[in-house]
Amino acid sequence: MIAPELQERLRAVKHCVVFTGAGMSAESGIPTFRDRAQGLWAKVDPAEVATPYAFRKNPQFVWDWHVHLADAVRRARPNDGHAAVARLQQFIPRVTVITQNIDNLHQAAGSRNVIELHGNLMRLKAFVDVDELFNGDASPLICRLCNGYAVSDELDRYAGPEDLAAIELKAGSVPRCPACGALLRPDVVWFGEPLHPGMLEDAFLAAETCDALICIGTSLEVEPAASLPWRAINRGALVIEVNPVPTPLSLAANARLAGGAGEVLPHFVSSVWGSPGRRSL
Ligand code: OAD
Repeated sequence: MIAPELQERLRAVKHCVVFTGAGMSAESGIPTFRDRAQGLWAKVDPAEVATPYAFRKNPQFVWDWHVHLADAVRRARPNDGHAAVARLQQFIPRVTVITQNIDNLHQAAGSRNVIELHGNLMRLKAFVDVDELFNGDASPLICRLCNGYAVSDELDRYAGPEDLAAIELKAGSVPRCPACGALLRPDVVWFGEPLHPGMLEDAFLAAETCDALICIGTSLEVEPAASLPWRAINRGALVIEVNPVPTPLSLAANARLAGGAGEVLPHFVSSVWGSPGRRSL
C-alpha cells in the first residue's frame, strides 16, 4: 500500500512525529467530535459544555458532561492503532507523539514521548474566572495547593497535596480545592482558552524539525493544532495521513491510508519496518 521508494525513505527517518486526533481512539469506543451522527458536538453545543463561560454560568452542568465523557475514557483500552504507534519506538530513533486527545491511551499503549496539546481529562485544576479576577479590587491571592486564585483568603492550613490528589472526576457536586475553596475543573483546553505555551512551542519545534509526520484521525479543523502537518510539509518532511475520510491535508500528503487507525496502522508499520519484535534491516 506504500510505494517501495517511499518505504525506503520512511526506513531512513530519524525523528518521526505522530500527530493524532479523536479518530485515533474511535475504535477504543470514545466518540469523535464531528462525526455527523455519533460525534460529541452533534449532541451538545460545545459552547454549553466546553468554554470557561459555560463553566461560570453552570459549573454543575459542565462537570456532569465531563463525568459522562470520563466514564467512556475509563472503560476504553488502547486499540491496535495505539499499539502500532508505540511500536514505532523500536524502529525510529526519536518518536514524538503530539495528541489532541485527552484520554491517556497513547501512554497506556507504551508511547513514552507524548505531548498532550489539549490536556488530560483525568487531571483536575482550579477554575480561574478571568472576568471575575479583573473586575475585583484586591489583587488575587494564589492558593499554594491548587495554584488557582484563592476564593477565600482564609486558607485551610492543614489541607495537603494528598487531599487535592484524592479528588476525582466523578458524579456528584463540583468539588472545591480543600485549601482555598476554588472550584475544580478538568485540566483540558476549552474553546476560547490558550494552549499551554511551552507545550505548543515544543509541538511546533518537533513538527518543524522532524523528517516524517504521520497524521492520524483528525479533521484538522481546530487551530493551532491543525497547522502542525503544514509546518512539517513546509520544512520538507514526509507526511502520511491515516483517516477513512479525506481532509484538507489529503492531497498534500505523500501517502493517504484510507481506513480506521486500528485496522490500517498495524499493517502499515509491519509492511514498512517489519513484524512485532523484529528490527527491519
Ligand atoms: P474530529 O471529530 O473533528 O475529527 C475526527 C477525525 O477522525 C475525522 O476526520 C474522522 O474522519 C476521523 N476518524 C473517524 N474514525 C476514525 C478511525 N477509526 N480511524 C482514524 N480516523 C478516524 O476530532 P479532532 O480532529 O480530534 O478540542 O478534533 C480536534 C479538536 O476539536 C479536539 O481535540 C477537541 C475538539 O473540539 C478540544 O476539546 C479543545
